[in-house]
Amino acid sequence: MFYELAKPDVSEVEKYIASVLEPEQKEVYGMLLPYIMRGGKRMRPMLAILCCRAAGGDPKLVIKPAGIIEMFHNFSLIHDDIADSSQFRRGEPALHMSHGTPIALNSGDALYTLLLKELVGLDMPRAKHVELQKRYIGTFKQVVEGQGAELAWERAGRFDISEGEYLAMIDGKTSALIGLSCEMGGYLCGARRRLCSRLARFGHKIGAAFQIHDDILNVTGTFEKYQKEIGGDVTEGKRTLMVIHCLKHCDAGERERVTGILGSHSTRKEDISYVISVFQKYGSVKYARELAAKLVAEARAEASKLDDSEARRALLALCDYVISRET
Ligand code: IPE
Ligand code: IPE
Ligand code: MG
Ligand code: MG
Repeated sequence: MFYELAKPDVSEVEKYIASVLEPEQKEVYGMLLPYIMRGGKRMRPMLAILCCRAAGGDPKLVIKPAGIIEMFHNFSLIHDDIADSSQFRRGEPALHMSHGTPIALNSGDALYTLLLKELVGLDMPRAKHVELQKRYIGTFKQVVEGQGAELAWERAGRFDISEGEYLAMIDGKTSALIGLSCEMGGYLCGARRRLCSRLARFGHKIGAAFQIHDDILNVTGTFEKYQKEIGGDVTEGKRTLMVIHCLKHCDAGERERVTGILGSHSTRKEDISYVISVFQKYGSVKYARELAAKLVAEARAEASKLDDSEARRALLALCDYVISRET
């Protein structure tokens, strides 16, 4: 339902991205459009469009800014898959698997360069444009800081991560960009500051629930639907909410084995199954589901304060999707 309402404008966002990439040199940029057009849920453009509509605005105003956010998202995925040694993205080999790490790194940089060029080239009143650029760059900074924190924990072999640290980390790596998408939906159509802040809060809650649910799918989903390798977070040694929860409750022997597996980047099926069995034993998956549901309830409470509209109903439906999706 939320998808149908946003679909025509999401197509415009895709056309805009194509118009940015197509004229560029094939050798350097040619792999980017097929990568972006592999699919992807387009959550961020969809949220920008729906939030704009919910604020009573014209979604045409958000096409380019939403396209720039989607480009940043794709840039971050290309580099994230290198950092995480992931093999698959959107059901196909990650870009560094199909093109090699040097080209994947450079094409990520190439995409980042183009999106910055687009950002500074947006046509709008100067004061608004300056503010918009500050918000975008501030958000990009939060994303790399979230990513950096997670990578630093792995590098340092830290397992003493608190739930608060985890929530702060995902607020950077995931929620910041989703929050920006929602907030910009309001900001670009001239919504008042209070409404923009409400949309930003909504986005942050949805973003955190989205990431927690994604971490759950990583251990409970199927490759056919999830389109990324199942158990990849265990191999990558990710300190997910389930890891933090189970380490708090398991016994010393289990702790030693779980941290040993997470620290060794094991790809062995029995190691991954063992870690998942400890999650199950201590109710860690259930715990993560409950926290994601709580965050979604908080997001719904924000959305419920918006004026009633088709777009608001779509945002509420999207809330349910975030924690029930299988893909
Ligand atoms: C993947 O984001 C990274 C996470 C925040 C879990 P999405 O799941 O939105 O990726 P696509 O764009 O739909 O592939
Ligand atoms: C993705 O984080 C967040 C960014 C790319 C900024 P993850 O590493 O948790 O997401 P997936 O599982 O690779 O999509
Ligand atoms: Mg990753
Ligand atoms: Mg990552």
